[in-house]
Amino acid sequence: MEILRTVAELRAWSRGERGKGNTVGLVPTMGALHAGHASLIEAAVRSCGRAAVSIFVNPTQFGPNEDFARYPRSWEADLRLAGAAGAHVAFAPAVEEMYPAGGATFLEVEGIGDRLDGASRPGHFRGVATVVAKLLIACEADRAFFGQKDAAQVAVIRRMVLDLRIGTEIVVCPIVREADGLALSSRNLYLSVEERRQALVLSRAVRAVEALVAAGERRGEALVSAGRAVFAGEPGVRVDYVVVVDWGTLLPVEVAGAGTLFAVAAWVGKTRLIDNAVIA
Ligand code: PAJ
Repeated sequence: MEILRTVAELRAWSRGERGKGNTVGLVPTMGALHAGHASLIEAAVRSCGRAAVSIFVNPTQFGPNEDFARYPRSWEADLRLAGAAGAHVAFAPAVEEMYPAGGATFLEVEGIGDRLDGASRPGHFRGVATVVAKLLIACEADRAFFGQKDAAQVAVIRRMVLDLRIGTEIVVCPIVREADGLALSSRNLYLSVEERRQALVLSRAVRAVEALVAAGERRGEALVSAGRAVFAGEPGVRVDYVVVVDWGTLLPVEVAGAGTLFAVAAWVGKTRLIDNAVIA
């Protein structure tokens, strides 16, 4: 696996591959790679033939009191995992490469970017949209791969790609979970043994709502209540949101239908975790 550090190198690689008739896939990540990231890389390799994984802890998507400084960094292990998953290129730029000195250009996805995680983490999706646009423009990939795990992020990116008429197709891959249901996340590393147990309440809430949907319930309020009831059984966990929303707009829906998302976010100790299911 080749390691590239500059946008010029990434673009030259991608153009070279496409010139040879290959299809290029991009998997944006912040490193601390786990099996969820590996599943995206594998999907990119399967669908595109050539895959680049970007590893960049993007400072602009972290709030001033968030975990940018202590976000897990595991460079050597990341390279091993990305290589084993079949990535051809790892793009690992310095901050100044993605944000040239004097930078003044940022992307705001109005409305959608202020909902769900965007409401709890002001400015978060401005940073995500900005860096993802930069990565997509740099790579000129045919397809870029994202996890359903970050469902609100997917909504923001889809809107941004549509509005900017970026030519990269956005592919969304299923949530990879631990055997006991916990959605894989780089932030699971922060959890103590007791918090790791408490964190299971998120996937329990998601499963409970999925079961209710399977039994025929479609009323948004009833599904939210059922989700909240599961959280009530784990009082050590502080709920951020429990919502039934349209996956495109992230606005609440009264009756779940095609494209409806059930999403939860909660604080387990100092760690904020998210989970979701597409419910209809
Ligand atoms: P990061 O949290 O590293 O996630 C990179 C990609 O992996 C995202 O698309 C995310 O949804 C996906 N992912 C994470 N956990 C997953 C799981 N359990 N199953 C499936 N996919 C999973 O998301 C980001 O980085 C950043 O915001 C980024 C898009 C790279 C912009 O900086």
